[in-house]
Amino acid sequence: MPKIFVLHENAEWMAPLRAALDTRKLAFEEWHLAEGAIDLSDAPPEGVFYNRMSASSHTRGHRFAPEFTGSVLAWLQAHGRRVVNGGRALELEVSKVKQYLALNAVGIPTPPTQAAVGADALRDAVRKAETPFILKPNRGGKGLGVQLFQTTGSALAEIDKGVFEDAPDGTMLVQRYIAPAEPVIIRNEFVGGEHVYSVRVDTSGGFLLCPADVCNLPDSPQGFQVCPADGGAAGGADAGARPKFEILPGFTHPLHARMTRFLERNSIEVAGIEMIVDTAGKAWVYDINTNTNYNPDAEAAAGLTGTDRSGMGALAAFLGRELEQLHKLAAAD
Ligand SMILES: Nc1ncnc2c1ncn2[C@@H]1O[C@H](COP(=O)(O)OP(=O)(O)O)[C@@H](O)[C@H]1O
Ligand SMILES: [Mg+2]
Repeated sequence: MPKIFVLHENAEWMAPLRAALDTRKLAFEEWHLAEGAIDLSDAPPEGVFYNRMSASSHTRGHRFAPEFTGSVLAWLQAHGRRVVNGGRALELEVSKVKQYLALNAVGIPTPPTQAAVGADALRDAVRKAETPFILKPNRGGKGLGVQLFQTTGSALAEIDKGVFEDAPDGTMLVQRYIAPAEPVIIRNEFVGGEHVYSVRVDTSGGFLLCPADVCNLPDSPQGFQVCPADGGAAGGADAGARPKFEILPGFTHPLHARMTRFLERNSIEVAGIEMIVDTAGKAWVYDINTNTNYNPDAEAAAGLTGTDRSGMGALAAFLGRELEQLHKLAAAD
């Protein structure tokens, strides 16, 4: 019997998806791809394969998980398996350069960016950039290593300290800082290529904005992290103020149609697309997460918990529909 296979490298981020799949009584198996082996002469099992490999896997010691996942996805796709977020999604997940070029191709604005490999090239890029600017790794993750600089000199001093030498793919980006109208970003969640909801994330506590509960611990580093799986306790809003993660009911944006096109053109079915609205009201997209987490507190506050309109609910329902398609095809044979 075909089932759902979830390709990932972070067991902690699996719990909410597991629960949503279990509730819907969907048969699934997890493939933890931090390490492993495949025999290219074998045929993969039958099923719906959902890839949620993360760009931040190196921060959990899984440095080669994306590379291994790339091999596994190529093998699955060569056998014509139904893959959700396949090779192209992975390619974009681990490269902001590729994200920006693909976004621009459908007319979505991205902050002006230079990419540099090597300390000297990075210094040259920094000297060329207008202040203030952001330095961040091309292969990102949870906002780690994202830094804002007000002056060229302060960035050059950091480069001299060797702070930027451990970018996972050796590539650093020098990017225009988009001053937001409010200290927030908006993350637009898509499942099955369709907009599920948008969530407002308070960035006043720093750039580490992972929405997963496990990422929102009081001791998480302060910087530029925005992962939604976080409970939202750390950083950002004070008690009594607006929560760090807040779903915006009924929110739509003129860029949504282009985002949908972008996803379709790049064969991405599940993604969180992050944007900043500047003081002139213009929206800039600066990060795509094809492995996406959803904030449980924000979903509870919006009354979405346990429904097909929650992130994991929509995802599990979508995977279930895809599995049903496979069952129908098998029965017709
Ligand atoms: N160009 C920018 N202008 C303003 N803020 C930015 C910019 N780039 C990143 N940030 C802030 O840093 C956070 C993390 O950066 P991001 O590009 O999303 O990296 P990651 O892939 O690690 O999540 C963003 O959510 C945002 O708050
Ligand atoms: Mg981000």
